[in-house]
Amino acid sequence: MTAAESKGQTGVEFIRMAPTLLKISNLSKCYRLGSSNIPVLERLQLRVAATEMVAIMGPSGSGKTTLLNCISGIDAPDSGSVRLGDRTIDYTSEVERTRLRRHHIGMVFQFFNLIPTLTVEENVRLPFLIAKEDNPQRLNRVQSLLQEVGMTQRLHHFPSQLSGGEMQLVSIARALVHAPELLLADEPTGNVNPQVGRSIMRILRNTTAHAGTGVLMATHSPEHAAWADRVCFLKDGAICAEIEQHGEVQNAARIHGKLLELGI
Ligand SMILES: Nc1ncnc2c1ncn2[C@@H]1O[C@H](COP(=O)(O)OP(=O)(O)OP(=O)(O)O)[C@@H](O)[C@H]1O
Ligand SMILES: [Mg+2]
Repeated sequence: MTAAESKGQTGVEFIRMAPTLLKISNLSKCYRLGSSNIPVLERLQLRVAATEMVAIMGPSGSGKTTLLNCISGIDAPDSGSVRLGDRTIDYTSEVERTRLRRHHIGMVFQFFNLIPTLTVEENVRLPFLIAKEDNPQRLNRVQSLLQEVGMTQRLHHFPSQLSGGEMQLVSIARALVHAPELLLADEPTGNVNPQVGRSIMRILRNTTAHAGTGVLMATHSPEHAAWADRVCFLKDGAICAEIEQHGEVQNAARIHGKLLELGI
């Protein structure tokens, strides 16, 4: 039973009452190339509640990865603020940015970012090894997550011995192993077949329902965006439209229609 069901609430009521987990205010970011500036994000506003799953859709180059990197502290915005829980991220502190990724945020990257010289099991243990928190209980957690993503047969394989879809599943296990408050997933189904894509969506949904993690996912797939509670459309540097999906897996046709209407 999910937390919402145990309180007799619908998904949407539960999310409306949930505290804000992530609040992005007036976030702007441009890249400098030589003497020219490429504006990517312009005074972007976004809120994700605890337990909410939000999908971001937008054309290639619209700034989805840039946005996720600014939230995780991999990159820094030029202006604006990012609040996670009760803290405003201090981009001037490298220590804080690292702590954020180690303890509070999980990341699934567009191109996996697995360490090629570590096995599947070691890659998933990595957050604990880096934080010097590796112990037998942690190993149980690693194994149960690898079981959840269906990769227990591949514990001792190296990334080069896995398919793209398998690497994505391992990277999802790694992102969730330290039970983050917020999971940032950059096209988590970009390289997988439809069946694995659905498994990944099920894992992300379960994470919001049972672990209370907020999920922010960039995707080009209306079918996968349809699993989210809300879809936000990113165009010209800002969120230009949203669709609320009432916490249910809806038909992707509405999302297809909105993409056509927005010219995305
Ligand atoms: N380090 C960088 N230096 C200069 N320009 C960059 C840099 N990183 C990204 N950009 C530019 O910023 C824009 C946004 O890139 P970003 O990767 O965020 O797009 P995206 O929405 O994730 O695209 P996709 O759907 O293809 O993954 C692009 O025009 C890209 O060329
Ligand atoms: Mg991207």
